[in-house]
Amino acid sequence: MDEKTKKILEQQATRFHVQESTQRTSVDLKEEGRYFREAFLKVEPNFDITCADRDILNSIFAWVWKLDSCNKLGLDYNKGLCLYGSLGVGKSMTLKALQAYMNHLKDKGYNDYRLGMYWRSASVLANLYAVDGQPALIQYSTDNLCVDELGREPIPASNYGTKMNVMQFLFQLRYDWRNECVTHVTTNLTMDKIAPIYGDYIADRFLEMFNFIEFKGNSLR
Ligand SMILES: Nc1ncnc2c1ncn2[C@@H]1O[C@H](COP(=O)(O)OP(=O)(O)OP(=O)(O)O)[C@@H](O)[C@H]1O
Ligand SMILES: [Mg+2]
Repeated sequence: MDEKTKKILEQQATRFHVQESTQRTSVDLKEEGRYFREAFLKVEPNFDITCADRDILNSIFAWVWKLDSCNKLGLDYNKGLCLYGSLGVGKSMTLKALQAYMNHLKDKGYNDYRLGMYWRSASVLANLYAVDGQPALIQYSTDNLCVDELGREPIPASNYGTKMNVMQFLFQLRYDWRNECVTHVTTNLTMDKIAPIYGDYIADRFLEMFNFIEFKGNSLR
């Protein structure tokens, strides 16, 4: 693990014991835990909990409900999740399950700005720009958004000759709305690659926008 990523994770972990408790007493967390697991099975019928990292799953559940007691990774409840790691280790599946679970909460009538999210791969976003230009991206600036496979999109994307680093542009827009909408990301990039690809400006804002969660292990494909 590179030094920069290590430092970010250490800072994150110190939050574990210091965050104020904002637990909701009216929620049946045991039942919600069941729904959370079901979301994983919905996305991956062969989901095997023994292949997953329990600290990660518990902390993501804690992130949803702002439960300090099981937030072992020290996730900040107001930042999105950046799931990074090598190929096939379950990043997209985990984020899809979170999306399914949070949509279920929205359907149940919970009111939290983090509920309900679009799902777009970075390549699709780059392609939207290539076909329809900048106006096609504006709708993705103010709603919750899961960006799958960040770093695999063509950079720059070209719209009839006008070139743009699409994700750099979108992160720039979304940073300004970070308190109203949340961004989640899956990527094979490590944090030291963000600045060379998206610029120092975005790399710096990443720290304010994301919790960083490393997925380890071998490919599950
Ligand atoms: N705990 C698990 N139990 C069973 N299958 C799993 C588990 N985690 C992931 N998988 C399956 O393994 C495959 C790879 O997972 P996924 O696509 O989420 O990986 P990824 O980390 O996003 O990979 P990439 O970096 O290539 O996009 C998928 O078919 C997924 O459903
Ligand atoms: Mg993936």
